[in-house]
Amino acid sequence: TQNIYILAIESSCDDTAASVMLNGKILSNVVAGQSIHEAYGGVVPELASRAHQQNIVPVVQQALKRANVDKNQLSAIAFTRGPGLMGSLLVGTSFAKSLAYGLDIPLIDVNHMQAHILAHFIDEEGFNKPPFPFLGMTISGGHTQIVRVNSHFDMEVIGETIDDAVGEAFDKSGKILGLGYPAGPEIDKRAKLGNPKAFKFTKPKVEGLNFSFSGLKTAILYFIQKETKANPNFIEENLNDICASIQYTIIGILIDKLKLASKQTGISHIAIGGGVSANTGIRQALKDGEAKFGWTTYVPKFEFTTDNAAMIAIVGYLKYMEGDFAQQNVTASSRLKI
Ligand code: KG4
Ligand code: ZN
Repeated sequence: TQNIYILAIESSCDDTAASVMLNGKILSNVVAGQSIHEAYGGVVPELASRAHQQNIVPVVQQALKRANVDKNQLSAIAFTRGPGLMGSLLVGTSFAKSLAYGLDIPLIDVNHMQAHILAHFIDEEGFNKPPFPFLGMTISGGHTQIVRVNSHFDMEVIGETIDDAVGEAFDKSGKILGLGYPAGPEIDKRAKLGNPKAFKFTKPKVEGLNFSFSGLKTAILYFIQKETKANPNFIEENLNDICASIQYTIIGILIDKLKLASKQTGISHIAIGGGVSANTGIRQALKDGEAKFGWTTYVPKFEFTTDNAAMIAIVGYLKYMEGDFAQQNVTASSRLKI
């Protein structure tokens, strides 16, 4: 059999990533994060694109080196075409196009949101691949979607956020509490030590399978303002309970929608991805759903859930096998749809 080597490049947000894959197995998976954004409490697009430009060549070199693959062995270059920040996408797109042209090999464009879901098809010992059809839920700092996945490239978004992403709900709540950015991991840690029912936040009322998180953020802000007026030490005296209560509310929102999606579609296989799938509470709630609702749930390895290039590589490999290549005049698309 033929050996297919894919070099994949991801630069849609604030991580510059490259990965080398051989026949569906990851040989290397390199990510350079950008700590510069921490000081600003969020990703600054202009700084992100500059950092990508600085990082892209060293990250690709690292990925090839760790895989022990020479660039002349590569079969194709896959890259994230969108969605994402335009200035960030342009760096990866231009680099991928130039490299494919220079090496005279095919170029493969990848949709970042499809990649978060198809990350479940990376060949990885001890991880089962979900059978079709299944429901994919992508939850991160930039995305909140429920997708009906009929086959690798037949996907339909059946629910998504109408305002903030779920990761933003964690991060913005954390900001109100004076936590560092991103706040999701710390809220998770503190939630384990607190009482999830100490404080009650109402869940938003949103039609069907769509999500809304901006109202929750406002409710938390008003709640904290009111309580700290009465007791200036309210946050520090109750931080773990506040974190537990916020996390409990957010997980409740996600699980309610998954229940509805599963009921409406009759699909009980559920695969999650995105940075928020690292959350201990959501993982536990999904496990509980197996016994409570008859779900089978799939959670990939952590390094394949946050933004990474391994997930771009698997899509590149699947498209390569179908002979689905990009044209040389392909352009980045910040609002690319599934
Ligand atoms: O996928 P990701 O690395 O980047 C994108 O946003 O695309 O996701 C980052 C998001 C941040 O909002 C971060 O706060 C959240 O994932 N996050 C968590 C946890 N770990 C990361 N949220 C809750 N609990 C966690 N353990
Ligand atoms: Zn992402």
